[in-house]
Amino acid sequence: MKFTVTSERPGSVKTGCVILGVFERRTLSSAAAEFDKTTRGLLKKVLKDGDMDGSSGQTVMVHYPAGAKCERVMLVGCGKASEFKTRAYQQAVSSAARAANASGADDALSYLAELEVPGRTSYQKVRTLVEATRSAAYTPDTLKSEKDKSLRPLRSLAIGVDAGDMGSARKALSDGEAIASGVELARLLGDLPGNICTPAYLADQARKLGRSSTKLKVSVMNEAGMEKLGMGSLLSVSRGSRQPAKLITLQYSGGKTGEKPVVLVGKGVTFDSGGISIKPGAAMDEMKYDMCGAASVLGTLKACVAMKLPVNVVGVIPATENLPDGNASKPGDIVTSMSGQTIEVLNTDAEGRLILCDALTYCGKYKPAAVIDIATLTGACVIALGSQAAGLLSNDDELADEILLAGESADDRAWHMPLWDEYQQQLKSNFADMANIGGREAGTITAACFLSRFTKKYRWAHLDIAGVAWKGGDEKGSTGRPVSLLTQFLIDRAAS
Ligand code: BES
Ligand code: MN
Ligand code: ZN
Repeated sequence: MKFTVTSERPGSVKTGCVILGVFERRTLSSAAAEFDKTTRGLLKKVLKDGDMDGSSGQTVMVHYPAGAKCERVMLVGCGKASEFKTRAYQQAVSSAARAANASGADDALSYLAELEVPGRTSYQKVRTLVEATRSAAYTPDTLKSEKDKSLRPLRSLAIGVDAGDMGSARKALSDGEAIASGVELARLLGDLPGNICTPAYLADQARKLGRSSTKLKVSVMNEAGMEKLGMGSLLSVSRGSRQPAKLITLQYSGGKTGEKPVVLVGKGVTFDSGGISIKPGAAMDEMKYDMCGAASVLGTLKACVAMKLPVNVVGVIPATENLPDGNASKPGDIVTSMSGQTIEVLNTDAEGRLILCDALTYCGKYKPAAVIDIATLTGACVIALGSQAAGLLSNDDELADEILLAGESADDRAWHMPLWDEYQQQLKSNFADMANIGGREAGTITAACFLSRFTKKYRWAHLDIAGVAWKGGDEKGSTGRPVSLLTQFLIDRAAS
């Protein structure tokens, strides 16, 4: 899909579809009022006839509006003007994108980015419009032999902005497209099944990304290399699998040489059966999404490359399956991590922390400015925060605040949870330095406590994305979160 920005006014442009906002109850936005004038009251008449009242989610299409040059005009309900904030704006642009894709129009011209949204700049509104429109066109049909022919997504979308906003709108457009392509990559990988998206497949995807830029260097360590480094914890998880584990690193050098990198560590469990502590069967297929942290690292690096962002970023992805087998770890087994600390594996289903701890020790070698790990780590996080916010835990409040802010501004939110010392005692083991589970209480926090024992040497934050990385039910599919948050975090760093 091609995006452009324009300062032309509605009514005078030849396009398949002009998209305009309407507020409750039957109040035209200013672009809609302009269009109404050119078409001699057409829109007011449509509203008066009762076709829509401006409630959020509504869309109405009018064909061949007399007096205007477009083939169609679409009115998009924006809800109450007084309640039109970030989320309402996002809902409006998403429903407009869905309706436009279903309309048969090849191209469209949207004026939704001109709507006033408190606290949002023109840059942010245009970017959201681009991201939401691209997102609405994504369908997880790569493995369907017949694609749904009723879907004919827009080929191009022009975005109307004030003449004075053209410069920032153009930047928003290219940033938005870069982020959208990162989000798409993350969704695509997330939605792939475990028999295709294996650790080796993730490594190939990383190598492919590496070929897209001279600034991105990719390397893949095999199990022999991990053995040499003493990654006994990571290797204890892959023991039960026929697919060898991979430790993937991607080094993006967009910033100054010598500038300390931000390291992103993504959990890459390409299928989590639970291992010997096997999971119940219901919805177990969704454990193909247990590599969404890894996918978000790849997506974020893809966006960095596309934006040529002036920062140094390292992506580290421990990739493995977690399966039961005669050779798999058993409850009670004690393993030695790369840090030298020993771990009693009381539950083989708490495997994410076992692979992350060695990856977190490993990434110390980059002398990181900060490390953020991203992981579908605990079911408890889904219970605590649902699908709205990722759980955020950190050993540095300033870093946590930066991440929270990035999440707000990218509309991809996280929520700060405590990492108090008092929780550490839940990880006590009689036989090893620590257990890999901390009991029923505060499961998300004790998982982060476990990781915190491997991140003492640098500023670190942990994002538990178990609730946000994918949707279940009828709408089952990957969301691409938190690529937007992470990319925003890096954009903000590059700017400071
Ligand atoms: N990948 C799961 C976490 C998960 C479960 C994410 C359900 C989303 C939905 C993780 O490896 C896991 O199994 N965690 C266990 C930890 C427990 C054994 C301490 C969990 O949350 O049940
Ligand atoms: Mn598990
Ligand atoms: Zn898992």
